[in-house]
Amino acid sequence: MLHSTLNTKAQIPRLGLGTWESKGDDGYNAILDAFDAGYRSFDLAYAYGNEEQVGRAFKHIFDSGKAKREDLFITSKLWCTVHRPELVLPAYQQTLKNLQLDYLDLYLVHWPFAMPVGEGDFPKDEQGFRKTERVPLSATWKAMEELYEKGLVKAIGVSNTPVALLYELYCGCKIIPAVNQVELHPFCQQPKLVSFCERIGVHLTAYSPLGRSGGSHAEVNASTHPVLVEIGKKHNKSAAQVALRWQIQRSQNISIIPKSTRKERIIENISIFDFELTPAEMEQIAKLDENRHVVDAAALFNVPIFN
Ligand SMILES: NC(=O)c1ccc[n+]([C@@H]2O[C@H](COP(=O)([O-])OP(=O)(O)OC[C@H]3O[C@@H](n4cnc5c(N)ncnc54)[C@H](OP(=O)(O)O)[C@@H]3O)[C@@H](O)[C@H]2O)c1
Repeated sequence: MLHSTLNTKAQIPRLGLGTWESKGDDGYNAILDAFDAGYRSFDLAYAYGNEEQVGRAFKHIFDSGKAKREDLFITSKLWCTVHRPELVLPAYQQTLKNLQLDYLDLYLVHWPFAMPVGEGDFPKDEQGFRKTERVPLSATWKAMEELYEKGLVKAIGVSNTPVALLYELYCGCKIIPAVNQVELHPFCQQPKLVSFCERIGVHLTAYSPLGRSGGSHAEVNASTHPVLVEIGKKHNKSAAQVALRWQIQRSQNISIIPKSTRKERIIENISIFDFELTPAEMEQIAKLDENRHVVDAAALFNVPIFN
């Protein structure tokens, strides 16, 4: 497995398993199948509602003696309802408890805006819009820095943080985020964010690297797009493998976390280190960019941070 070096000097695997919507037994088995296939990095979040079964899967791996805790790179995320500084440590401790872990390798602020606490995980107002709360990202970040300084977490970072917000945080913080986890795939390439993060030493993790396989946006499906299918044929690889490989070659500073709960796809998605795209093919894929976010903050949260 290839690795990138974080600004903490820790090594992050270039490929890990995504777990959004990996629920129940499927979520449990996906972790075990991925481990057996060679994955050592796992992307989790409190908001995915699967910490209990994911934690059981890790315990199974450790109890079987196949790996020690330090062999895995485990990421999770602080949810929007616990951005108030005094809530950050208890939220982190709860996540560790749910996962049956002593520490995380990386803890991210899931979104750069807050929601009120005590009204469920996805609070809504009377009109049905998501409720937000005025907590500055810098205040939440200070509490994240304390987790890091106390040695409770190996690295801290952000997610869904566009250049302007990241720059503000970068200028005012004590500890520079190790990672910004953002949407990156052939239809959402964010080249300015990619080069800015390279310049300031913030690693990027590409979420939805397959464009969520279309999801509700069938036209941005990295596993069926004709250009990617054609390139794949030349290498005896699938379109999904081409989309994933493109990110590996695009920048040393990017890691990818494709999600699947199907064993054959989990294996397919990690089988991308035995071929190389040509410069012309890289160029062809670069032309697919539409700056199209499949994960739309405006629609999901009524906070248009990407617009
Ligand atoms: N920080 C954030 O706000 C944020 C937001 C979104 C995602 N994420 C993280 O990033 C991870 C990945 O993103 P994502 O889950 O949104 O989307 P994704 O990885 O781009 O795509 C996942 C979808 O593609 C399918 N799939 C997987 N491998 C495939 C293949 N080889 N061929 C065809 N289809 C395939 C999966 O179905 P099956 O499971 O049925 O195979 C699933 O429907 C998430 O799981 C999560 O951990 C983070």
